[in-house]
Amino acid sequence: MMENVVLFDRVSKAFGAKEVLRGVDLSVGRGETVAILGASGSGKTVSLKLVNGLLRPEAGRIETLGYHVSDLTERELLPLRVKVSYLFQGGALFDSMTVFENIAFPILEHTEPSSEALRSRIAALLGLVRLEGIEALYPSELSGGMRKRVALARALALEPEIILYDEPTTGLDPVTGLAIAELMRELHSSLHVTSIVVTHDIPLVLRVATRVVFLHEGRFVYSGTVKQAATESPEPVRRFFEAGGAHA
Ligand SMILES: Nc1ncnc2c1ncn2[C@@H]1O[C@H](COP(=O)(O)OP(=O)(O)OP(=O)(O)O)[C@@H](O)[C@H]1O
Ligand SMILES: [Mg+2]
Repeated sequence: MMENVVLFDRVSKAFGAKEVLRGVDLSVGRGETVAILGASGSGKTVSLKLVNGLLRPEAGRIETLGYHVSDLTERELLPLRVKVSYLFQGGALFDSMTVFENIAFPILEHTEPSSEALRSRIAALLGLVRLEGIEALYPSELSGGMRKRVALARALALEPEIILYDEPTTGLDPVTGLAIAELMRELHSSLHVTSIVVTHDIPLVLRVATRVVFLHEGRFVYSGTVKQAATESPEPVRRFFEAGGAHA
């Protein structure tokens, strides 16, 4: 039996009169790479933020790595945030800090490495995202794609058990996008990281996802393999794949 690391039980989330999630169920097993697909504004980012408690549901229960996320205070959620890292849609680096300081930030919040260990850890993380030697630069000196990769290096800094990726390849050239996909596969296969990936990038989905779920009008209307999604799935899902260039 696969161990569930994320569980949504009849979760509802609204902003004022706008119902984004209408009683959804979702379970993610350890080691899965689940892609959340759906139209812009369908609630994909909201779903990710519910997983680690950045947002709270109005109704339903959310359990992540055994933590009852919906019932815990911000303070009680801190240990969970070490194990669940979140790559924000826009990257969200601190502009006043160098690349080094940005990546060091979560490490120093939770551990006390020697300065030598910190330096080599950060060099290794930058190597993973193919950005060696840019420690001293500020985010404003980087391209959008480089910022995104630094944000990914920072998200990997604490060796998370779960990674939430919000559009990890948007705005990257295809070669860099492919390198990110390879890195995600590597994290999956050698470190058994569990991932939830929100993306519109169909080639990325085809490369990394072990399962896809599709969000439509407040519900997960589909959960299954990538192959079935592209061919046998309900109409909105199939159309999404066709428009993205994946034909049966
Ligand atoms: N903090 C918030 N306050 C009010 N409304 C919000 C908030 N966050 C999200 N929403 C609304 O919830 C809905 C879903 O937003 P979400 O960001 O999850 O969309 P998405 O599926 O990630 O879209 P995209 O593909 O464009 O990123 C949208 O209608 C959005 O306006
Ligand atoms: Mg979004």
